[in-house]
Amino acid sequence: MLFLKVPRAQGEKTRRELIQKGLFVAGYPILGEEGVVLLPVSGPFGEFETVERDAEKRPIHHDRLKDALTELLTPAELETLIGSFDIIGDIAIIEIPDALESREKEIGDALLSVHKNLKTVLKKLGPMEGEFRVRRVRPIAGEDRTTTLYRESGVLMEVDVAKVYFSVRLAHERTRIAELVKPGERILALFAGIGPFPLVISKTHKDAEIIAIELNPDAVAFMEKNIARNKANNVKAVLGDARKVVMAGYQNYADRVLMPLPKGAHDFLDAAYAGAKDGGMVHFYTFAGMQDPFREALGKAESAAQASGVRIEVASQRIVRPYSPLTVQVVLDLIVRKNVT
Ligand SMILES: C[S@@+](CC[C@H](N)C(=O)[O-])C[C@H]1O[C@@H](n2cnc3c(N)ncnc32)[C@H](O)[C@@H]1O
Repeated sequence: MLFLKVPRAQGEKTRRELIQKGLFVAGYPILGEEGVVLLPVSGPFGEFETVERDAEKRPIHHDRLKDALTELLTPAELETLIGSFDIIGDIAIIEIPDALESREKEIGDALLSVHKNLKTVLKKLGPMEGEFRVRRVRPIAGEDRTTTLYRESGVLMEVDVAKVYFSVRLAHERTRIAELVKPGERILALFAGIGPFPLVISKTHKDAEIIAIELNPDAVAFMEKNIARNKANNVKAVLGDARKVVMAGYQNYADRVLMPLPKGAHDFLDAAYAGAKDGGMVHFYTFAGMQDPFREALGKAESAAQASGVRIEVASQRIVRPYSPLTVQVVLDLIVRKNVT
């Protein structure tokens, strides 16, 4: 193995420079000799002498990703990386800054070595986009696949993260909604995806009647599999546009309407109000500025209510999660009053 002979006092500084230049070879030990350290490298650097030494690659087996990556990345690079990944089932989805692209395989391998239950690491290739809110991803380590099984609140769901939207970050919100449901409710789950909201509700409310509407045919196919897998026979998956489906067959139907489409749900508030019974509840999700998020969200809900000829009362409001430095996702729980004079 090739090593760079560096005076001990310059060891740490040089190690960082080597990492930045992509010359440091992670996984090999840093050796010590009289007054110098030997840094494992892939080639010469600066005026330092290179020497050959016998050394065995150590299996990377660290408790935390940070430890696993300290040899590979500078502290600043580490900071950008940590916290930027989600785990869905046995897949990790990670954002890798352009500057670290050449090390993505090593980063992926480090993740697999830290989280023993992971089998695949996918790199995000962009934001959620298009009508179906799907993100492009590419495998960078482990098995070459994008489909996984994910368990939440006792529900097992199959999901292909390259074909459908899915977020683990809404798990708490799904539990919250399920706890609000009363016996025998009729529920319209708009923008249902692969079915996490309907399935989590169904798990504890077998007497509910849940219509789950989704536009992405791949998502509906997974939702049907997930309904069967969880024996959630009270969930009916409907392929189609939320507005058209509600207007055609479900007006004044629901005790509860779910609208988990934060980018654009306000355009469907008319359908949500139409689908709710008098006194029914609409859960309206939207992105809003940090400054005054609830006022902004309520403004949208109120103007749609006026246009629809209904009255709304805010039963509760909460921030679901931060979305970007200046934006949060909020939910308004709205009671819909009809027959307003
Ligand atoms: C943010 S995702 C939420 C999915 C799911 N509820 C979840 O929590 O995982 C929004 C979903 O709405 C679907 N969608 C977008 N426009 C739609 C429409 N007009 N009618 C029905 N579904 C739609 C997208 O395909 C996507 O699956």
